[in-house]
Amino acid sequence: MRAGTRVRRRRARLMVLVCSPALLSGCSLAGAMAPRGVGADVSNGLWWLMFWLSAAIFVGWGALFGYGLWRRQRPDADPGGEARLHRRFIVGGGIVLPLLVFGVLFFYDLEAINAQPDGDDVVVDVTGYQYWWQIAYSDPEFVTANELYIPTGTDVRLRLHAEDVIHSFWVPQLSGKRDMVPGQVNELTLHAREPGRYLGECAEFCGLQHTHMRFEVVAVPPEEYEQWLEHMSAPAAEPAGAAERAGYDAFMDASCASCHVIRGTPADGRQGPELTHFASRRWLGAGVAPNDRGHLGGWIVNSQGLKPGNHMPPVEINADDLSDMLTYLQSLE
Ligand code: CUA
Repeated sequence: MRAGTRVRRRRARLMVLVCSPALLSGCSLAGAMAPRGVGADVSNGLWWLMFWLSAAIFVGWGALFGYGLWRRQRPDADPGGEARLHRRFIVGGGIVLPLLVFGVLFFYDLEAINAQPDGDDVVVDVTGYQYWWQIAYSDPEFVTANELYIPTGTDVRLRLHAEDVIHSFWVPQLSGKRDMVPGQVNELTLHAREPGRYLGECAEFCGLQHTHMRFEVVAVPPEEYEQWLEHMSAPAAEPAGAAERAGYDAFMDASCASCHVIRGTPADGRQGPELTHFASRRWLGAGVAPNDRGHLGGWIVNSQGLKPGNHMPPVEINADDLSDMLTYLQSLE
């Protein structure tokens, strides 16, 4: 190897070594390691326990390795003593230590299972579709999509369904994952300790747009949750003004109404997400773009450009009708 190449490689290795802590310091504790719910507290505790156990094993291994090197320098060591030492290491490191570690993890796991919330003060049905989430409340009864509101300090029992293929429901800051399997109802209880917006994702590969199958859990104080329920269970606002009325007509005339529900209107398709209070949602296409006028226009005309493989076909519409339709959809607070 040429001397120049060797120096370059050495420099590159040094750079990696110097930069690693700097790069890692850019990571903040987020997701499952910044728990805001009882279920996630438990997983986080287990994670740290395993981390410190692994760290202790690593340090112990390093010490033994150093000790071994040191012993090798002493050829006059007593051979009988050497054999006894080997036996001790085999029994200690091969039997006692694993039993201890797995024993601690086993009992901690049992405790963790018992500590999971399992109440049903509020019950919500969540259904996974390729590639979005339907969310159905029962009291009062209404359906929405991609934003799951829950009251803080309350056990919220989720009944998880899947319409087409297997999905998996995961809100890292609130709880562990739970698979959603067609033809089966799995349950998971969320308990958010504090208000906030928590990112949720599909955690089971379910097709081309698995990566864009996100949702938000919005945890709000119970009084605010009651207000939200009341608002959401009401039918859509009537179109007000010429542009909104023209947009309403454009929506009903185009193919939109055969795939989406807008409560209080003839739109009653069940293929895509409910749009009754669509404008109150923050994201489009299950987290693929912000819900603003520009992205919404692009989404309607060609959602395949933003999220290839999703099940919404392009809508053929002229510019004036599109503008009115956007005005109408943005009025659906
Ligand atoms: Cu649904 Cu991945």
